Order: sequence, then structure tokens, then C-alpha cells
Amino acid sequence: MTSNYLDKIQIKNFKNLEEKTLNFSNHINCIFGNNGNGKTNLLEAIYYLLHRKSFKKKTTFQQIINVECEKPEILFLSSLVFQDEKISVSSKILPEESYWYLNNEPKKFNSIKALVISPFDSNLFHTDSQFRRQWIDQLLSALSPRYKADLSNYKKCLKFRNSLLQKKPYRFEEQIISNDENFVKYNISLAHLREELLNELNQYCSKTFKIIFSDSHNLRLYQESSIKNLNTDQLLSLYKNELQNDILTGRTRTGVHRENFLFDFDGYNSLEYCSLGQQKMSFLSLVFAYIELFRYKLGTYPIVLMDDVSGELDRQRWLNLIKFLESKSFQVFITTANENFKEELELIERAKKFFIEDGKFSEY
Ligand SMILES: Nc1ncnc2c1ncn2[C@@H]1O[C@H](COP(=O)(O)OP(=O)(O)OP(=O)(O)O)[C@@H](O)[C@H]1O
Ligand SMILES: [Mg+2]
Repeated sequence: MTSNYLDKIQIKNFKNLEEKTLNFSNHINCIFGNNGNGKTNLLEAIYYLLHRKSFKKKTTFQQIINVECEKPEILFLSSLVFQDEKISVSSKILPEESYWYLNNEPKKFNSIKALVISPFDSNLFHTDSQFRRQWIDQLLSALSPRYKADLSNYKKCLKFRNSLLQKKPYRFEEQIISNDENFVKYNISLAHLREELLNELNQYCSKTFKIIFSDSHNLRLYQESSIKNLNTDQLLSLYKNELQNDILTGRTRTGVHRENFLFDFDGYNSLEYCSLGQQKMSFLSLVFAYIELFRYKLGTYPIVLMDDVSGELDRQRWLNLIKFLESKSFQVFITTANENFKEELELIERAKKFFIEDGKFSEY
């Protein structure tokens, strides 16, 4: 297997991070530091380098530029290993534009992706159906270019449809019906692709739970879909029949944008049945199952950015998780502010350990 990783980075003017060259391990990198010192900022900067955007929604230049900098420009200089070859990726980000270079040529680099695991994701995933849908859409889009393209076209059709539904006085029935031809096509394609990809994901889920937490549970993520068994004609007539109600509410009330995903734990809905710790373990197992599927489909692992995920895990579960990370060959950055969980991370022999205080790094 070829390995991809971030070897070195130098960041200038990104939030509170000091300008310093950081050399990373190709395997485990631990970032320690008290609250509010820059751990998440480093993960955000790494994500930015690879995706040219933040993992935080709607982030503007003003939010990421260091508040005290003299010149409003963010600079990245990095060295990555891609398919066992060293490459350099650098960039200059200005308020209105940005420039990206691959091996000093003006070119964007898209081949290594990062996956972020944030501290609140597990709770949001278990409580907020919209978050769940968006999170799953984002992950499936990264696995399947077809899913990504169909989702983007679906959203355009939906936006157009809703804009017509909201026009008053209403006189756009024909336009809606003609738009529905494509809308239905993307609906059906996405519902099927979701089914296919979730089936593949579920093949890894329970196994991953067992490997990480040495406990047997059956996990399954599935969509509660009212449309997945309908054919084009049936769905077209459903939209036709529902049109008057859609006009009254001013929005499209049926389609893959409204479908719910459920997470099944031994036959129970994990939201209602599981403890917080079990939810965290199930969620992490789902994420690592996804990472395996990612490698299976795309040939390489993503770089994994784990931000303060220790909450709700007991000491034994945390040790299991660390052992699991040690057994894997992807590069991971793991942060914690929790003193109790620091010890176990410090014991990992081959890991690089950084301490960050007020944006300044020290390695030990
Ligand atoms: N644009 C900016 N310029 C300079 N500093 C910033 C900027 N935005 C945020 N910060 C600083 O970054 C700090 C937050 O950093 P970060 O979120 O990385 O902390 P953390 O180490 O992950 O903390 P926690 O353990 O609480 O999650 C804030 O306290 C603030 O001082
Ligand atoms: Mg943080």
C-alpha cells in the first residue's frame, strides 16, 4: 500500500499559530495543550491546506487571519508524501483571492484528503437529523464522484423548485412539472446510491466496533426512505399529487433532502437506547468503518484529524482506541486537553508529541 502523509508544514498568520516549521510523524501525532491555546486551530490549518477551505462552516478570511498580523496574508508552505513521492504544496491567501502551488507550479493539489472527527459530532449525529443527513452526504460525496455530482444537481433543482413554489401569485405549475423530470431522476439516483454505499459501509461497522472496543454489537446505518422503492413514474405522480400542498407550504416536502437516517444498535435505535459512551463508541466505529471503506474505494487512507474525542470514553476504551490507531497505517493527528488521557498518548513510542501554548509549539 502506498502511504500519503503530511511531512512538514510552516504556517504564517493563521489564527493564533506561530510561524514555525513543524515536522510530523507519518503515523501518530499528539497535540497537547490547555483550552484555548490552538490545538483545533492546527487541525483547521492542516484541513485548509488540503481542502482550501475550513472544516468550520461559512468561515471567512477575516476569521482565520491572525487578528494582530501586520500584512493581511496567510501563507502555507508544506511538504507532503503522495504515493511515496515528496511534493511541495504552498499557498498565499489574501482577503479576496488565493494562490496555490504544487511543486512551485501554479496548480491545485486535490489528491490527499483529511477527515475531521470533532468532539461534538457524536452528540449531533445522535440528536440532529439534519446534521446526520449533511454529515452523511458529505462523506458519501467524498467516496463517489457520481454521488457528489447528483447531489449538486439535485440541490439546484430543489432550489429552483422551491423558488417557484414561493412566488405569489402562483402561476408556475408547468415549469415545476418540467423541472420535476430532472428532480425525480436525481432523487432516484441518490436514494439508490445511498443504499449501495451504506450497505458497503455496514459491512465494516460491527467489525470495527469489535476490533476497537473488543465487544460485540451489531451496528447498522440505514435510511428511512419513503421513495427508495418508487420508480420514475410513481415518483413523478407523487410530486404531481402533492403539488397543491407544496404550493401551500411554499416548499418541497418530499425527496432525499428530507429522508432520515437511523443508526441501529443491536436492533434498537441508538439515540433512544444507548448511553453516551456507547453512542460515542458506535459513532467512532462508524467513522473508522468509513475510513476503511474510503481506502477500499479510493486506494489510500485519508489523513485523520481527531479533535478531543476522548470525552465519554472510559480509560479502557481510550486505551483500546489508541491501540487501534497504533495498528493502522494512516497518519493521524490527535488532540487532547484532558490530563487523564494525556498519559496514555505519551506512552506511544513512535508518536510525535507537541505541546501548544498560546499558539506556540514545543516538541518533546
Ligand atoms: N483570527 C484569530 N487570530 C488570532 N487568534 C485567534 C483567532 N481566532 C481564534 N484565535 C485564538 O484561538 C484560540 C482558540 O484556539 P483553539 O480553538 O485551537 O483552542 P484549543 O486548544 O483547541 O482549545 P480547546 O481545548 O478548548 O478546544 C482562541 O482562544 C483565540 O485566542
Ligand atoms: Mg479545540
